[in-house]
Amino acid sequence: MKNMSIDNTNIPSQSIVVLGSTGSIGVNTLDVVSRHHQFSVFALTANNNHELLFEQCQQFNPVYAVMVDESAAKALKEKLLASSCSTQVLSGKSALAEVAGASEVDTVMAAIVGAAGLQPTMSAVKSGKKVLLANKESLVMAGRLFMDAVAAFGAQLLPIDSEHNAIFQCLPAGENYSNSVSKILLTGSGGPLRNLSLEDIRQATPEQACRHPNWSMGRKISVDSASLMNKGLEFIEAKWLFDVPPNRIEVVIHPQSIIHSMVEYIDGSILAQLGHPDMRTPIAHGLAYPARIASGVSSLDIVAAARLDFEAPKRDHFPALDLAIHAAGSGIGAATVLNAANEVAVDAFLNEKISFGQMTDTLQGVMDCAQWQEPVDLESVIEIDTYSRHLSGDIIAKIVAN
Ligand SMILES: NC(=O)c1ccc[n+]([C@@H]2O[C@H](COP(=O)([O-])OP(=O)(O)OC[C@H]3O[C@@H](n4cnc5c(N)ncnc54)[C@H](OP(=O)(O)O)[C@@H]3O)[C@@H](O)[C@H]2O)c1
Repeated sequence: MKNMSIDNTNIPSQSIVVLGSTGSIGVNTLDVVSRHHQFSVFALTANNNHELLFEQCQQFNPVYAVMVDESAAKALKEKLLASSCSTQVLSGKSALAEVAGASEVDTVMAAIVGAAGLQPTMSAVKSGKKVLLANKESLVMAGRLFMDAVAAFGAQLLPIDSEHNAIFQCLPAGENYSNSVSKILLTGSGGPLRNLSLEDIRQATPEQACRHPNWSMGRKISVDSASLMNKGLEFIEAKWLFDVPPNRIEVVIHPQSIIHSMVEYIDGSILAQLGHPDMRTPIAHGLAYPARIASGVSSLDIVAAARLDFEAPKRDHFPALDLAIHAAGSGIGAATVLNAANEVAVDAFLNEKISFGQMTDTLQGVMDCAQWQEPVDLESVIEIDTYSRHLSGDIIAKIVAN
């Protein structure tokens, strides 16, 4: 590793894989990793961004670099051959699961976006790794099956989504808290469209939707934040991670994104985790847990922050939130259908095939007519995902034709 350590905290050495290293979470993870000598990088993976993966290989010298796209893998291989870097290039989807489950690996950062993260993340879980979960879609889709696998294979699951990481920090460690916790307060900024009229929200452009007021993120999660689908997916994620029923999770809009979520106890205490909206904080927490390491995030000037506002979400303006909350109470099949429909609709919106408003119309249309049987294994989850993607494509075609 080229970067010098700036911290000597006594944490054990870890060999890590970063799934999705070229994305927003991946880049932030490598930033934290570069600050500490205890981490060595076993593998980095990307879909097709071979330029950035090449730079990352030069800096971190992983044993393997995985490119899903074959031609991008070829380009990366050529560049690496011409360099002094000894990294071996693998390609294709199956290589993601191979590196995530390799025996040399201690920790896997699951930071692929969307359903594509499910199989590699499950490979890490089934190999009993410490899994840092940013890829919420995999847990949203597989729900109980995912959590059962964590228990059966002795994996350690640590939440990286800032809200879930905050909740995890506010819950009592190692205790059964079902009798002492009354409520989880899941906070969200409300996104870039929070103050627009319903009409203006429906006409929002991809550029507007991706202009998040507080966080810098990939395009898919940025659109999800604008529609409040991200909060809906997080609602489902919280239900599984913390084993709480939906009626004990409340979504609260907190525009400053200083509080990252809260836990209310039966004695009336509310514990909150605060900090700058910078993903390096939850990433460092997950990497070092239960110790603490420096993340590169500056100290929060609480006096300068001054105000913490809260409001209820505008449910009629952002119907995706209630679709997800409803799915959270309806089994894992419903969440899988909704998640897949959302991925198809967000892609169509970002490619300017449908408007922002038509994105939620698509979700509503899919949830109104989709039929499925509750999945019993990963294969049936993937079948439902594929079914919902086809149905969503048909519904979008009808919307566009009208
Ligand atoms: N960004 C945040 O602040 C944040 C916060 C909380 C949770 N999360 C969650 O973290 C995950 C990643 O988000 P992000 O914002 O980092 O996304 P992103 O910036 O879009 O990065 C996605 C990463 O996944 C790779 N990828 C995309 N499609 C793939 C495929 N089909 N197969 C394999 N790899 C693929 C990308 O490779 P290429 O670069 O080659 O396309 C990239 O490395 C999401 O589930 C998101 O909900 C993100």
